[in-house]
Amino acid sequence: MKKLIVANWKLNPTTLKDAQKLAASIKRTAKNTAVLCPPAVYLSAIKYPNLGAQDCFWQERGAFTGQISPLQLKNLKVKYCIVGHSERRTVGETDGQINFKLRTLLEHKIIPILCVGYGTTVEQDDLEVTDVLRGQLEIDLQGVDAAPVVVAYEPVWAIGTGQNAMPEHAEKIAIFIKNRYNIKKVLYGGSVTNANAAQFLEQRNIDGLLVGGASLVPLYFNQIISI
Ligand code: 13P
Repeated sequence: MKKLIVANWKLNPTTLKDAQKLAASIKRTAKNTAVLCPPAVYLSAIKYPNLGAQDCFWQERGAFTGQISPLQLKNLKVKYCIVGHSERRTVGETDGQINFKLRTLLEHKIIPILCVGYGTTVEQDDLEVTDVLRGQLEIDLQGVDAAPVVVAYEPVWAIGTGQNAMPEHAEKIAIFIKNRYNIKKVLYGGSVTNANAAQFLEQRNIDGLLVGGASLVPLYFNQIISI
């Protein structure tokens, strides 16, 4: 079964030329489905079979300075959109706003990649983690047909720290999310590298990965999508 491997470039790179060079160095076909999520300013100038945005607004058009709408993304042939990343939640994004974004994305047939996991620490046990996730998912998915939504479990302490979660922990959390919320696909994210990716992809209920730092290094990302 093909896994879904999503590259979150975050606020990198700083020039269009470098962004195009990075995209050009990623394999077009691999064993898995690869999605590139560059900064929005580059989306229209990057050529890759599967593109995703890193965020969006919930209105289609109008007086909303600085926002990017799902309709604009759809018109750029963007197929996926990350929503609720912890780096957005820390600057004030709420679960209520995430819920609006999911609804509008689904209306426009863009697949949301809903990130959850904010607030967890390395010391927390599975029960505490599921409590945090329940708080997020119950609001995020309110009134939403969850079946097309991809959920990415990203423990905050694992993001950009070089400390990944245990694959067995991620598997348990994926089972919890699927059983409780009618979610079909769960990804793991947080310090995924070419060295540890296979351990996550071996888990039955982990359907792919959301990769930050390692997605900026073609050698690493190409290895990850080829596993
Ligand atoms: P890193 O892979 O750099 O830890 O980032 C994970 C992440 O936040 C992906 O969205």
